[in-house]
Amino acid sequence: GGPVDVDISSLRPTEKITVLWRGQPVWILHRTPAMLESLNETQSLVADPDSKRTAFPTPVWAQTQWRSIKKEYLVVVGICTHLGCSPVDRFTPGPQPSLPSDWDGGFLCPCHGSMFDLAGRVFKNMPAPDNLVVPPYMYVTDTKLRIG
Ligand code: FES
Repeated sequence: GGPVDVDISSLRPTEKITVLWRGQPVWILHRTPAMLESLNETQSLVADPDSKRTAFPTPVWAQTQWRSIKKEYLVVVGICTHLGCSPVDRFTPGPQPSLPSDWDGGFLCPCHGSMFDLAGRVFKNMPAPDNLVVPPYMYVTDTKLRIG
């Protein structure tokens, strides 16, 4: 298929929607200031904070801490870069036995435990070889995304 247009005007803070693009689930997450702040905390805990790895190349314009065009809106393909499972939301902060004590939410792959922060950056020493994929997209208007 071709590009997919998505109206994000009603996407409230902390809400995430999934749209299909080329048969793949693309997540759009409206991040709050606190969620963006958590990226400072995970900065030293993730394997590739500036998305320079090339297993699943990140567009140059998304090689930032927040990995998106507009900071508030994360747009990533919701498929684990290890063996293709679907990570689940883990937005609630709090210590859990298998997680770094200062992990502040993100996404957890149920298959082999890879963890990603709220920019889709994989934590150190995880099975997944790379961050979640940032698809090509642009803003057609302030509240309309075009993916692809
Ligand atoms: Fe996600 Fe293996 S498929 S950790």
